[in-house]
Amino acid sequence: MASIAVYPGSFDPITFGHVDIAARAAKLFDRVHVLVVHNPDKDPRFSAAERVELVKAALAGVKGNFDVNSLESGLLVDYCKMVHARALVKGIRTTVDIDYELPMAQVNRDLSGIETILIPADPMHGFISSSLVRQVATLGGDVSKYVPAVVAAALTK
Ligand code: PNS
Repeated sequence: MASIAVYPGSFDPITFGHVDIAARAAKLFDRVHVLVVHNPDKDPRFSAAERVELVKAALAGVKGNFDVNSLESGLLVDYCKMVHARALVKGIRTTVDIDYELPMAQVNRDLSGIETILIPADPMHGFISSSLVRQVATLGGDVSKYVPAVVAAALTK
């Protein structure tokens, strides 16, 4: 049976850091579902449909088997059950990310038994975040080092 992972996030927008985590997850699992999830604590810059399209474009040249979908409501673990995922995958840059991810990993395991694999970010991408990218782009800065070209173009619109 194929091993499936789900890599969830807001991806608002997807960055080179996210692309790196997706690519590394694809080396560990036969298939990776990159899932654009609605986060009620955030007011997104891009719609879920736009984010899905940007994720697809960003992963177009990346080796691995990817499915890109969105989850607008409902529990992440229910999506994981639906696709028979073996694990969740998240990227971590700093201890702040660990503090943020740990309770989510624990509640998701408590709810469904699913494990979360935390993949350390490549230091090259350690300071990149979607929120910083949005801020730099909004203020007219060049974000081409941090996001794929298709995302940089979308941010200028
Ligand atoms: O990129 P983000 O915004 O840090 O991702 C957070 C996200 C969307 C993965 C998280 O909010 C989430 O898992 N939401 C799904 C709803 C859910 O299942 N919540 C309960 C367990 S965390």
